[in-house]
Formats: sequence, C-alpha cells, structure tokens
Amino acid sequence: MTSTKATQIRRIRYALWGLATVVALALGGAYFVRMAVLRGPSAPVTTGEASIRSEFSLTDHNGNPVTEADFLRRWQLVFFGFTHCPDVCPTTLAYMANVLDRLGGEIESVAPIFITVDPLRDTPKVMAEYVRAFHPKLVGLTGSEVEVAAAAQSFRVYYEKMEEETAPDGYLMAHSGHIYLMTPEGRFEDVFREGEQSAEEMATDVLARMNGKQ
Ligand code: NI
Repeated sequence: MTSTKATQIRRIRYALWGLATVVALALGGAYFVRMAVLRGPSAPVTTGEASIRSEFSLTDHNGNPVTEADFLRRWQLVFFGFTHCPDVCPTTLAYMANVLDRLGGEIESVAPIFITVDPLRDTPKVMAEYVRAFHPKLVGLTGSEVEVAAAAQSFRVYYEKMEEETAPDGYLMAHSGHIYLMTPEGRFEDVFREGEQSAEEMATDVLARMNGKQ
C-alpha cells in the first residue's frame, strides 16, 4: 500500500511540475510577444505603452472646458482617481504634491493633473475643494461619463464602479494607481507608483527626463 501511495504522490508531483512548466512557458511566451510588440525593430507598434496618448475633452475645477492642447508644451503628470477614494488617491496625490515641491523652478514646465473616474459625484466644485487640499498647482478635471471614459481610454486606464455597502452612496470606483509622465507633445514617457520610489527619487527622475539626460 505504501509503495502504491508513494507512486501516486510521485505521479501527482510530476503532473504539477508539468502544469507549472506549461504555465511558465505560456507566461514567458506572452512576455516575449509583448516585448516584440513594444520594442521589436521590425514589428509594428500596435499595443502597449506606445499607444498611450494624452487626449481628452473635459472640464477643469474652475468650470472651464479644457483639452490636452491646454497643457501642451508642459510635461504632464496625470493621475486618475476619485475624491471619495479611501486610500490610494489621497496617498498618491500627497505623494505627487511632495514630488512637485522638489522640482524647484522646473515646476513651471509641469502640469499636474487629477482626472476623476467618478464624474457623477465629482463636479467641478467638488474637484476644486479636493485638489486645493493637496497642491496649488494641481488641476482637477471632470466631465460627462462619456468624456471621462474617453479620457481613460486614451491613457489605457482601467476603472470600474463596484457596489460596496459601507462606502458613501454604496459604491467605490476601482481604478489603477499609476501616475503617468507624459512629454510636452502628449506622448507617454513613463509611469510611477507611490511607494515604489521616494518622492525625492521620482523628482530626480522626472527632472532628468525633462533635461534630456535619460
Ligand atoms: Ni483612489
């Protein structure tokens, strides 16, 4: 009996290793396909970071209509979230404010932008009060649900309304937590996440890119 059991265990172990190998190969394959699409010299760039664009038609926190053209010739730091967010948004915006304060005079060449994914609640007035709490340079943008969806699509940002009994109005907005750095031409440069590097490190990185050292 024991030897049969040992054989069974060995079979299961082999089966699991086989499965793990298949998964690893699949993941590795997907990785290489992604790298080929993103970086391949001959492959056409059709997906991924290269397709991220700063394109939007929204309303700023003063109630004025704005598009990406209003922010061109400045480097854009763009973050999507919502004012009722319990954690990621406040910490990320406080982090962004910390980074802005470390840019010195170069801050005049930077447009920090917070775009809501909860336009029903985040009116221009709500956005004005919210952004003011973080940084005087921070611009809050909102719009219709269609306009916000289009803006998120241009940045390839994911968000989704989620029922949550304990949250205000019974819902939360799930959203990605990346800060996008966009060039003055509105093209993708890089993404940052609060917690992955200090504010000082991110400020140094942003300044280096602005000065063409990277
Ligand atoms: Ni949030």
